[in-house]
Amino acid sequence: VFSLLMTGNINGRKLTTRELDNFFSLLVVAGNETTRMALSHGLLAFAQNPDQFRRLKEDPSLLNTAVEEVLRWATPIHHFRRTALVDTKIGETPIKAGDKVLIWYASANRDETVFDAPYTFDIGRKPNPHVAFGGGGPHICLGNSLARLELQIVFRELAKRVETIEIDGPVHRLRSNLTHGIKELPVRLTYAA
Ligand code: HEM
Repeated sequence: VFSLLMTGNINGRKLTTRELDNFFSLLVVAGNETTRMALSHGLLAFAQNPDQFRRLKEDPSLLNTAVEEVLRWATPIHHFRRTALVDTKIGETPIKAGDKVLIWYASANRDETVFDAPYTFDIGRKPNPHVAFGGGGPHICLGNSLARLELQIVFRELAKRVETIEIDGPVHRLRSNLTHGIKELPVRLTYAA
């Protein structure tokens, strides 16, 4: 993919070094760190909620809602920041042009005014208006379809092949206010006959 970006012509010109740098970060960080973390958190959630793993095994038609719940539960990116261009208000809070505003996806995805029982991992949750990929608008995650597909494939195959998932040692989390990460997650799997 990167060779194509380096050699390709976009509207009759090559990408600049700055544009290539940005693409590299986006593909490697945005596209890798996030999906990896969503998969780890999903695995952990299924290990901690064996009834939900069994539910997915018994009813594969729940795959899509299960993946959306994994995304809500994981919220691999805690926050993004915006800079206000004009004076405005969010709720009752005045925001001045130039103010930096943090959007805490992690908080929005546990908002009890939006989600019933937000601290319950429910793979049948519907509707599930999570903001793991951003809150909409022009900058919504460009890779969201690819990420959803990756998660669907992994959890579909796990549910098909694996009988049980158990945590098999201490889980180490990443100390970060940007990435909701897991550094180590030892698990023991038993396989379907
Ligand atoms: C579970 C996986 C992922 C999560 C949770 C995630 C999350 C996010 C979030 C929160 C944003 C910011 C949205 C905003 O500013 O409104 C974003 C932007 C972006 N993501 Fe993802 N992402 C994921 C996977 C991917 C993948 C697989 C790719 C590409 C291979 C990707 C590429 C991008 C790009 C290019 C942007 C910037 C879009 C723009 O500013 O116009 N992401 N992502």
